Amino acid sequence: MTETLDIALPKGRLGEKVARLLGEAGMGAAEVREGSRALVLESDDGSLRFFWVKPADVPIYVERGAADAGVAGKDVLLEHGADVYELLDLGLGRCRMCVAGFPGALERPGALRVATKYPDIATRHFRSRGRAIDIIKLNGSIELAPILGLADVIVDIVETGATLRENKLEVLEEVLPVSARLICNKAAFRFKHGRVEALAAALAGITEGGK
Ligand code: PRP
Repeated sequence: MTETLDIALPKGRLGEKVARLLGEAGMGAAEVREGSRALVLESDDGSLRFFWVKPADVPIYVERGAADAGVAGKDVLLEHGADVYELLDLGLGRCRMCVAGFPGALERPGALRVATKYPDIATRHFRSRGRAIDIIKLNGSIELAPILGLADVIVDIVETGATLRENKLEVLEEVLPVSARLICNKAAFRFKHGRVEALAAALAGITEGGK
């Protein structure tokens, strides 16, 4: 019997898109569908096992070898600084990491109060600009911070821009473009090379054709 290839998928919209891609590549699991509460699923041919995990935890599972491969946003990879191989840009979940706030917020003198879920990325961005900051780590609804005066600016993901617009905030600086990446554990890349390459090739074929 062939050993399974274990793949960590991010729970939520991105993970569902990836599950659809895997299905198109003939690597899907009938059980992988919205609404299923099972955390571990087998592909129809039994060659793959999928785990649903919190998006920010995918690099941890892959780096430590609990999963052979996984799908994570570039934002999560940079913030975590994961020691994994990045095999493929899946072209899904495209968005931008931005500094945002009320117009003119960056002109404030002194240390800038920055609310974010991404303290490492934010710190590196402002350090490269020589700007002193005070990081306020939040876990969600980041846009509320400047509205309530908790922070001067935020560093966060902008996808459609609707959340900023509806709250009268705007993009003040772009930090980096973000998209979903196929990542691989370093040992699995050596010892399960053929399987990993087949997975990457199947997904690459679909993402190139489908975009
Ligand atoms: C993300 C992000 C922004 C929003 C951007 O939040 O943190 O708030 O989406 O998308 P938009 O540009 O299309 O409006 P998410 O929905 O993940 O929830 P969160 O507030 O819990 O982070």
